[in-house]
Amino acid sequence: MADFQQRDPLSPAFWDERFERHFTPWDQGGVPQALRDFSAANGPLTTLIPGCGAAYELAWLAGLDWDATAIDFSPAAVAQARAAVGMHAARVVEADFFAWQPATPLQLIYERAFLCAMPRAMWPQVAARWAQLLAPGALLAGYFFFDDAPKGPPFGIARAQLDALLQADFECIADQAPSDSIPIFAGKERWMIWRRR
Ligand SMILES: C[S@@+](CC[C@H](N)C(=O)[O-])C[C@H]1O[C@@H](n2cnc3c(N)ncnc32)[C@H](O)[C@@H]1O
Repeated sequence: MADFQQRDPLSPAFWDERFERHFTPWDQGGVPQALRDFSAANGPLTTLIPGCGAAYELAWLAGLDWDATAIDFSPAAVAQARAAVGMHAARVVEADFFAWQPATPLQLIYERAFLCAMPRAMWPQVAARWAQLLAPGALLAGYFFFDDAPKGPPFGIARAQLDALLQADFECIADQAPSDSIPIFAGKERWMIWRRR
């Protein structure tokens, strides 16, 4: 898709253009199995879904009576999410992850295709914000994309790099291969749970 006008993934316009043109190869089209399993075994937890895209997970968690909020800085993503989540539309907020403030303390941040949407230079800021938003004992759970291709998004990480990024503030308590990866992530992602130290 060489004819996109927007080239900077740090700009909402980059994501708007892709949502508006229905170019969303990261979109799972539903709720991934590991999150279904996690939500069956835990919670309800006060949850943030940063960079929510279509926000299928929000409808899922809200349907389980979790206090979940989904944020995205792309107006087109927010519009798509609100349409997708129906009665839970008010829980989708147009906001920048680095500025948004929770109304009540978070117990969980759900990660899917958000870290890998960011250029690698941003990763320390993402990790610092995760740590800032979560109190000790709270969880960062979701999907992490491992790859070394220089161009993105998605920008993949190496396991040692992820450990270096998170180990000061988080302890890894689960790490498993997902059963239902979509093609762009297949064989290169892990479901992980990190607990805030
Ligand atoms: C690759 S998409 C993933 C969407 C969704 N998590 C999913 O798995 O389908 C990345 C999303 O992050 C959003 N995003 C990127 N930077 C953001 C920021 N600073 N604050 C909020 N949302 C952001 C984009 O607008 C886009 O919807």
